[in-house]
Amino acid sequence: LSTLPTTRTVADVREMVREWRANRHTVALVPTMGNLHEGHLSLVRLARRAADRVVVSIFVNPTQFAAGEDFLRYPRTLEADRVLLQGDASADLLFAPDETVIYPYGTEAPVQVIVPRLGEELCGASRPGHFIGVATVVCRLLNIVMPDVLLLGEKDYQQFIVLQRMVADLSIPVRVQIGPIQRASDGLALSSRNQFLSPAERAVAPELHATLMSVRQALAEGATDFAALEGSAGERLVRAGLVSDYVQIRRADDLSRPTSAVPLAALVVLGAAWLGRTRLIDNLRGSG
Ligand code: PAF
Repeated sequence: LSTLPTTRTVADVREMVREWRANRHTVALVPTMGNLHEGHLSLVRLARRAADRVVVSIFVNPTQFAAGEDFLRYPRTLEADRVLLQGDASADLLFAPDETVIYPYGTEAPVQVIVPRLGEELCGASRPGHFIGVATVVCRLLNIVMPDVLLLGEKDYQQFIVLQRMVADLSIPVRVQIGPIQRASDGLALSSRNQFLSPAERAVAPELHATLMSVRQALAEGATDFAALEGSAGERLVRAGLVSDYVQIRRADDLSRPTSAVPLAALVVLGAAWLGRTRLIDNLRGSG
């Protein structure tokens, strides 16, 4: 049925990439956990423009889920994903490794990549260890594929900043490129986790985006009391029926806390909230 070359082994990936490089082709990597949607496919299309060859990886990485999180129920839809990767967002190679390929010594005590501070706040504060798992797996994927370009989605903005820091600090020879958030028509950022929402929760979910929009609007109108803006945004989420984790105004370049003198274009408003058992995240850049 499927003609997309698909492999589970490091040796196959390396051989294919070696062949491409012998032909002077550049390579882009789009790392995913599968269950592909338009957000992923838009990254694959960007990758096609950024490099001659595109590798998509699908691996539901156990080490980035804390105990009690949704690792087991995370949707695994490999065949449907392969079909999508042969449409207009086409990949040249799908790398779908087993756990033992990525973690040959197991997941109990793997060699880890830690991005201190950046990986410990915002989502890292409510999901301890999450960004250690993310940095660890992406470092491994980069070592396996050795791409010229790494494509990451803007929805996971903190992940992008954490991985950008990892790449810079470890001198990994790859260019990190971000692809814009894809949204449903009511503003909800596309995410594989949206399918966990009940119809009632799905109706409320766009309130996260609406709340971040109202914070950005207030900043655009000259508001400078960031703590007050963050506080009332959290209250708005709670009134709508979400359990607010955080709404924070940060510098977009390094996620540090800004002073009120920073121009809107240099800021990002980030939010995370629970709807039932589903955790939603979103962000809006001041420059967007
Ligand atoms: O964003 C994701 O889907 C994951 O965090 C990533 C980057 C594929 C690492 O497992």
